[in-house]
Amino acid sequence: MTQGCFVKKRLTGSIPFMTETDWAIEPLLRRLPFRIAPAKRADNFPLELTPSGADQLADGLSEAAIDVMSVLDRVGAILFRGFHNDGDAGFDRCIEALNLKPFTYAESLSNAVRKNRTARVFTANEAPPDLEIFLHHEMAQTPIFPRYLFFYCEHPAATGGATPLCRSDHLMVALERQLPSFVKQCRDLGVSYTHTMPAQADSGSGQGRSWLDTLSVSSRVAAESKLQQLGYSWAWLAGDDLRVTTPALPAIRHTNTGTEVFFNQLVAAFAGWEDQRNSAASSVSFGDGSSMPLSALKEMVTLAYQQVYDHFWHAGDVVLLDNLRVMHGRRPYSGSRTVLAGLAGPQSH
Ligand SMILES: [Fe+2]
Repeated sequence: MTQGCFVKKRLTGSIPFMTETDWAIEPLLRRLPFRIAPAKRADNFPLELTPSGADQLADGLSEAAIDVMSVLDRVGAILFRGFHNDGDAGFDRCIEALNLKPFTYAESLSNAVRKNRTARVFTANEAPPDLEIFLHHEMAQTPIFPRYLFFYCEHPAATGGATPLCRSDHLMVALERQLPSFVKQCRDLGVSYTHTMPAQADSGSGQGRSWLDTLSVSSRVAAESKLQQLGYSWAWLAGDDLRVTTPALPAIRHTNTGTEVFFNQLVAAFAGWEDQRNSAASSVSFGDGSSMPLSALKEMVTLAYQQVYDHFWHAGDVVLLDNLRVMHGRRPYSGSRTVLAGLAGPQSH
């Protein structure tokens, strides 16, 4: 790709963008009121932007919201580093500046336990520090998911605590090469997820949100009504636990630019939905209820982690993710770590 003059001046090296983005991204980058940091790796993932003048990120985002979101749609992840953001309230203003349709934790069907800080901002998954949270597309296992995710680091961990990021369009290419028949079955049949929820939140699990909170209900009758609307099947278990199975959901989707992405929750469910109520291997099936081959699931997880970029947080970092194109997770850590999150752009399968 030929880099434009403006972009060249800002860089110490070239940005080797991915082929599909070449034609479209350069004029967008020229217009952004930020500096472009040298690429961290060959595919320039994630794109890192730093201040060029004023250092209030919310101001820059409100000036260039449409261009920022167009760039995000093509690169999948943008890191903003070196800005002044006033804690959770300043992060909330950054999200507001992007003018996107809000997506609240309360109305989501997320399995994770979180706490709200502001209307748009909540703590990232509160699972214990020694737990790995495996790669996932936020809420891909539910009929409604957020198109965009935002993270803000208030306090990085003493050790560990990186956020692994994986491009699912790249994973799709690797899967087509290594596991073509598995991909064909995923494409033809879709995928279903089975998950057992407690009646009371279990903060010791990465999937410990209660069924009362997950479904925003206060009784079994209301829970069943909601599940029926969503097309789920369910069973009540001992201890007031609730096991639910989703309808068949697509396992592969397309980005705005037509690229196929392996958009589902197979990696996290197979690798990580393990707690006292759930067994990872029985958490997933093809959409017709038939079981998935264990060897293919294991290889899928390996291929995903081979492509991971681990983002190690600096205090004040803001990361924007296109949830359709990029999976994220959380590495185990020590010390205190506070990473806040926000969601936007509700979409349904
Ligand atoms: Fe997440």
